[in-house]
Amino acid sequence: MDIKKLISEMSIDEKIGQLIQLNSNLLDISDSAEITGPQAKLNLTPEALRSCGSVLNFQNAETVIKIQSEHLKVDPHKIPMMFMMDVIHGYKTIYPIPLAMGCSFDPELVEECAEMSCKEAAVGGVQVNFSPMVDLARDARWGRVMETTSEDPYLNGVFAKAFVKGYQGDMDKEYNMPACVKHFAAYGAAEAGRDYNTVDMSEHNLREYYLPSYKAAIDAGAKMVMPSFNLINGVPSIGNKWLLQDILRKEWGFDGVVISDYAAIKEMITHGFAENEKAAAKLAIDAGCDIEMMSGAYTGYLKELVEEGAISMQQIDDAVYRVLKLKEEIGLFDNPYLCADPEKEKELCLCKEHREIAKKAAIESTVLLKNDGVLPVSKNVTSIAVIGPFSNMGGIKGFWSCHGEDSDTVTIYEGIKAKYTDSQIFTADGCGYALDEEDDSGFEQAIEYAKNAEAVILCIGEYEKFTGEGNSRSDITIPEIQMRLARKVLEVNKNTAILLFTGRPLAIPELNDIAPAILNMWQPGTEGGSAAAELISGDAVPAGKITMSFPYTVGQCPIYYNNNRTGRPLKKPYKEAKYCSRYQDCPNEPLFPFGHGLSYSEFEYGELTLDSDTMTADSKITASVTVKNVGKYTAKETVQLYIHDCFASLVRPVKELKGFEKITLKPGETKIVNFVIDEPMLRFWNFDTKYCSEPGDFEVMVGTNSKDVQTKTFRLI
Ligand code: NOJ
Repeated sequence: MDIKKLISEMSIDEKIGQLIQLNSNLLDISDSAEITGPQAKLNLTPEALRSCGSVLNFQNAETVIKIQSEHLKVDPHKIPMMFMMDVIHGYKTIYPIPLAMGCSFDPELVEECAEMSCKEAAVGGVQVNFSPMVDLARDARWGRVMETTSEDPYLNGVFAKAFVKGYQGDMDKEYNMPACVKHFAAYGAAEAGRDYNTVDMSEHNLREYYLPSYKAAIDAGAKMVMPSFNLINGVPSIGNKWLLQDILRKEWGFDGVVISDYAAIKEMITHGFAENEKAAAKLAIDAGCDIEMMSGAYTGYLKELVEEGAISMQQIDDAVYRVLKLKEEIGLFDNPYLCADPEKEKELCLCKEHREIAKKAAIESTVLLKNDGVLPVSKNVTSIAVIGPFSNMGGIKGFWSCHGEDSDTVTIYEGIKAKYTDSQIFTADGCGYALDEEDDSGFEQAIEYAKNAEAVILCIGEYEKFTGEGNSRSDITIPEIQMRLARKVLEVNKNTAILLFTGRPLAIPELNDIAPAILNMWQPGTEGGSAAAELISGDAVPAGKITMSFPYTVGQCPIYYNNNRTGRPLKKPYKEAKYCSRYQDCPNEPLFPFGHGLSYSEFEYGELTLDSDTMTADSKITASVTVKNVGKYTAKETVQLYIHDCFASLVRPVKELKGFEKITLKPGETKIVNFVIDEPMLRFWNFDTKYCSEPGDFEVMVGTNSKDVQTKTFRLI
């Protein structure tokens, strides 16, 4: 197809139409349609509506087919619209939130889940996915930490690639769709963890920690980029030429489509960066934003700006070219409905195979934070009390559960009942999940069940809608009513395991003190209950490792393992230390460090060895360690490699994850894990903003988490 020729035949209104994205409910394109209300606010004209280039927020295959066929009747050049959606952790079959998926340390599993969700979404009519979200997150107050995979740039890069591969493959699978990596850039560094808030950081920090995951997604072939809502050093990303032109297009060579986040172009006025919508339109198109999502700056003012010569027709043509090129690439000109198929949608969504994948993902991403032996619960117990607001009420799918329903979700109670067929299973909510819930009238029944049962599974934590977009918290504890319930249940029955549900690391020092076992299931999705039953019974062994540090208290946020040292590190217990970097009232360390996660089995690490203590730019060093399963279960262990650059032109973090290997060991089995270290792994953005390594000493650390490591040193010469 000759796209340039097509563009040359299009009117300017049609071209601008290609650069807007609307919610499906705004697409009333009948000739008589009067432009009022929300459409008028978006400066929409009947021409713009007829030429609208893309759509978000729609229902299913049937609606997509209907909307598209209506559109094709009126679009002057019969250019199909592109249908985009947030399919973040599943479409109908919901798999665990991305932060949980990160804890699986299993990129292949992430790819499998992404592929599965892409199949369901594709037959449901989705043609482009607003995923992966790869924002580095270090502050658990921020609600959107649930959407990312970790606090670590390397790991986020690994998973960014896995998501993109899962959605897109080589664009030659039966079902695939372009990935849109977001939110470019550093959205996760919002000050005070408050969503949409300002980000202020050095170029070094940005390049070193925040940019690598977007770059990884783009290197993996992501076809779209969504800039973030936030300011970076005073400039909103959507109007940031340096970010979108110099880095994204020139430095990284990205030639795909840039789409604004929802109304972000107009928000430049609210930010105080653009004087009015016209100025906002100019700023965004000059910066390199192709599609405006749900605000009216482009529809209202691009034409005027061209007529005045403030922007060139070439800028519009370039943006339209990128959009049409993508439409051509996904095959829209051959088949405007792509895979949308109501029958297949029914058949594929929530099919057995997809539920199995979601269950596997929920098992692999669950993290055993603590266990004094109450888990697993024998299948011979006479009775189990499944207590708490997340035992049977739903609310465990996760914030971005797309078309997922609670009614399709296996609750914890249902999962346990199906597994423990010979035991009596009782359930009671005890209380509601609201943050300010006060009604404890359900306590009595719950405590009665807990008292009389042989084992208790207490399901507490954070409701799915208390994380995600716009859901920051200044207090990241478990709501007090649930803690009261926990104290009472633990008073009457010590054989209690906590099942924790959350979309962020919570501050749970008290729970850690009083509960014998904590199994963190995050928000596990559709198969949460069946996965829980496998893990509780020991038919599956927990293997997840947390990819965000769990603080003692919100006051420690932001807290992350790859921090810099200070000139006055804490060397004594924090209460005794003076004039050093510490809190008077809590440790510097988190409650649970990055990479922490227990198993029902136990692993013994042999001595770490390096095959050389010097390295050159062309040589490699192999770090080796033997790991033995000295416990009773066949189990998985993620062996982690960290490196520390001891002196450099800019101070380097105390350690940085550089590799990992997830191994399976039978009881008594030993494996040798080798990590090959080479010079590129030692590179960083140095004082001169050059990406290179600097000679000197390096520490190699290997261990079961970021805290418990063995260290050896080598010198780069
Ligand atoms: C706003 C969110 O920030 C973004 O992640 C999402 O893709 C869009 N809304 C569209 O739903």
